[in-house]
Amino acid sequence: MQCQVIQGDCAAYLAQTDAVFDLTFLDPPFNQGKEYAHCEDNLPSEAYWAWLGDICRKIFERTRQGGAIYFMQREKNAEFTLRCLRESGWTLQNLIVWKKKTSAVPSAQRYGKSYQIIAFATKGHKPRVFHRLRIDPPLPENYKQRRKQGMYVTDVWDDIRELTSGYFAGDEAIRTAHGKRFHKQQSPLELLVRIILTSSKPDDLVFDPFAGTGTTLVAATQLKRRAIGVEIDPENVRCIESRLASLRPADSVERFYAKYAFTKDLEYIWARDKAAETLFYNAQF
Ligand SMILES: C[S@@+](CC[C@H](N)C(=O)[O-])C[C@H]1O[C@@H](n2cnc3c(N)ncnc32)[C@H](O)[C@@H]1O
Repeated sequence: MQCQVIQGDCAAYLAQTDAVFDLTFLDPPFNQGKEYAHCEDNLPSEAYWAWLGDICRKIFERTRQGGAIYFMQREKNAEFTLRCLRESGWTLQNLIVWKKKTSAVPSAQRYGKSYQIIAFATKGHKPRVFHRLRIDPPLPENYKQRRKQGMYVTDVWDDIRELTSGYFAGDEAIRTAHGKRFHKQQSPLELLVRIILTSSKPDDLVFDPFAGTGTTLVAATQLKRRAIGVEIDPENVRCIESRLASLRPADSVERFYAKYAFTKDLEYIWARDKAAETLFYNAQF
């Protein structure tokens, strides 16, 4: 299985690669004035969306027919996100609500915000792969019957905890020697496990243009998918390399297997039968 970590700008990488992607996870900086060492997070709105539109178009061109993209954004940007995908050629399948477990961001003028959106879209109307995962969340009180086979995952994801809040980050959050969060936008591994299991097959090529701490690559390689991640910040690239080189117990995807036990063909989708041999290689762009 091949996993490639590239240090550089994803737009420049996309302009010259001949890779063909099956699935992309797009988790860009949200343009909310965060301190990123190697990119501007305070662009005028038009410039920011033109930049992301160009990246979505380039990914679309490099994606196999029926391939998928999952574009994560703040809920207040839902309208821009959907337009950006549509104008770059993608067909929307679901607007997923990823409900945060921790408290809502309060507001005096509107309801408190407690979710992010993940727009799931495909190249063409028919997804090339869509594995219908089943989970078995706790039943509401007074439910008369227990479920026998769990239930299909819906477009509201309220069972995956974020890592970003101050008071809950768990073992999965990567920390500096002083105990501080290494990267405040590190995605939870389980989010990527769900996306990769649903929208790719073993050996498919998974792409992450804003790789951050490499969560997508960590999940993809364990699930025996090929993976390419691009990250502009060399310090983050070093973090990805060490994360991939020696897997921390908190980064093992195995702890999620039982949750999906009711899923048809889970052994195959999870690629448990395949040898766990991964070949890492790096490049600079
Ligand atoms: C929201 S974070 C992604 C976090 C990631 N999902 C994770 O689990 O760690 C966005 C990342 O994109 C990187 N980045 C920003 N501009 C970039 C560019 N033009 N090309 C590649 N990476 C970029 C930032 O350094 C940051 O690490």
